[in-house]
Amino acid sequence: MRIAVPAETQGAEARVAATPETVRKFIGLGAEVVVEKGAGLASGITDADYEAAGAKLAANAAATLADAAIVLKVRRPAEAEMAALPAGALVIATMDPYGNEPALASLARANVAAFAMEFMPRITRAQVMDVLSSQANLAGYRAVIDGAAEYGRALPMMMTAAGTVPAARIFIMGVGVAGLQAIATARRLGAIVTATDVRPATKEQVESLGAKFLAVEDEEFKQAQTAGGYAKEMSKEYQAKQAELTANHIAKQDIVITTALIPGRPAPKLISTAMVESMRPGSVIVDLAVERGGNCELAKPGEVVTTPNGVKIVGHLNVPGRLAATSSQLYAKNLFAFVETLIDKAEKKLAVNWDDELVKATALTRDGAVIHPNFAPKPEPKPEPAPVTETESKPVAEGNVTNG
Ligand code: NAI
Repeated sequence: MRIAVPAETQGAEARVAATPETVRKFIGLGAEVVVEKGAGLASGITDADYEAAGAKLAANAAATLADAAIVLKVRRPAEAEMAALPAGALVIATMDPYGNEPALASLARANVAAFAMEFMPRITRAQVMDVLSSQANLAGYRAVIDGAAEYGRALPMMMTAAGTVPAARIFIMGVGVAGLQAIATARRLGAIVTATDVRPATKEQVESLGAKFLAVEDEEFKQAQTAGGYAKEMSKEYQAKQAELTANHIAKQDIVITTALIPGRPAPKLISTAMVESMRPGSVIVDLAVERGGNCELAKPGEVVTTPNGVKIVGHLNVPGRLAATSSQLYAKNLFAFVETLIDKAEKKLAVNWDDELVKATALTRDGAVIHPNFAPKPEPKPEPAPVTETESKPVAEGNVTNG
């Protein structure tokens, strides 16, 4: 049972899908691990570290992938990598499948079983495999560090012989996994922290971290959380009330960090151009939602914009990749925890239970086809029934019946 860890090829991805720690654990399960030379360097892991953990090194992607039963990646394999994937292998990565259906078709054609780690159900058993949480947590931390680095002043209150430095005011918009870590980090750095969200459950969480909660707490707010724990898209009326409440607050902030997302929708616009214009020169906005359209109207993906009134708007892409060593450490552990469930430990071989809910939720392709219900091809609609003439008998069911 060979596990392959090729180097990441897309963009400036600095993370890697296995660490010496997980390599050791895979070997403990009876696997052989092959790592492409240089795959861990951007995460601070040398080839010698992998070798010391028991991995074999391969000179290039093709040699790494040869005969692999499992391929571990951070990102979905690019088109150019597909040909080298061994037929029948399990390919496990963050697959980013929405809007990338042609890539899914390629994975199916490559005849691999592709698994999307970001589809892992958020249930207790799978918490240790939750890549969205492990990476969002670190993004929330890094957003505060990035904001602090762009901000030309100190964050904590300092009483010095030369005078008193006031504490910075930091406002966190959206209090999911990233927002909670941003609050905790900003508090540790000594800032005065406030936070907002549309889900009522967040109020207590914000207060338990020592920050102040600010939100329009009307009837709609009380219903804003779905059964799955996510936010709903709020009505135009609610959004207007929310903007009115936050506008004055934002004008007084030094750093605003936005993390607000709604599953399957573009990120809600929470900071208008007028709000940015109301902020003092030197203030900073860090928009963690920039890859999903941004929470701030003026944020630009991959850029740090300075507005005419001197506000910096930080729109870094792949924020977890900005602390790649830590992100890789947690991501690799998430992968190990999932792969462990796919292996028969006594027999030391692959044993995927295709009926397991974790497998069903994450498997995108298998045996040459796209199998995930969100992407599986829709059944062909039945052809239009021939027009009924006066002389023919009437069909049993009338109307245009399709499979839907
Ligand atoms: P997310 O990344 O989808 O959204 C981030 C935050 O933005 C959410 O708190 C959401 O309520 C907020 N938001 C959306 N629209 C907003 C608006 N208009 N204004 C202000 N805020 C807005 O959320 P994430 O981080 O994935 O967490 C979602 C939920 O899932 C949380 O309740 C979290 O505790 C829960 N969760 C459960 C896990 C488990 O049971 N294993 C693991 C991780 C998270």
